[in-house]
Amino acid sequence: MQNTKIIDGYPFIRYKKETYTPAEMQKRSQDFYTWMDQRRTARDFSKKPVPREVIENIILTASSAPSGAHKQPWTFCIVSNAQIKKEIRLAAEKEERESYENRMSDEWLDDLRPLGTDWQKPFLEIAPYLIIIFSRSYETTDNGKKHQNYYVKESTGIT
Ligand SMILES: Cc1cc2nc3c(=O)[nH]c(=O)nc-3n(C[C@H](O)[C@H](O)[C@H](O)COP(=O)(O)O)c2cc1C
Repeated sequence: MQNTKIIDGYPFIRYKKETYTPAEMQKRSQDFYTWMDQRRTARDFSKKPVPREVIENIILTASSAPSGAHKQPWTFCIVSNAQIKKEIRLAAEKEERESYENRMSDEWLDDLRPLGTDWQKPFLEIAPYLIIIFSRSYETTDNGKKHQNYYVKESTGIT
């Protein structure tokens, strides 16, 4: 394949370099910042259905993230089943309640106050899909041998 180079038996997709004039760079960086600055942490979700392909594209985008030694130490799981979403909500709320009532320091709770968060997570049942990301500490081959993954939390966190 033209855009692929084999190195040590592994296929590498060629990097397509883009070049811009300083004025274009200035404009593009300003536009990118303006766009990224619109991002918000969402704590309320609509029930409105979302095409499954949108969810799959989101996961494809996330899985293009960098990872330690390119091990991609993650598994994505999509949940749409109402009963499973309910069980996830109950389990999350149990942990969150314990955190808010017994684990978090007064300073932490003070810092959270302006955000208006608490242990209740009704949105886990309202959103049409939940995307669960699991990190994989190691891989297991068919013969049961373990292979290490690297920077697992950082790699999964970036996705
Ligand atoms: C590591 C990390 C942990 C967070 N934990 C929570 C959380 O438990 N609950 C929550 O509602 N928001 C959580 N947030 C979101 C932050 O509160 C949010 O990013 C911050 O208030 C800034 O708001 P913004 O994301 O809308 O810019 C977390 C963010 C990060 C990066």
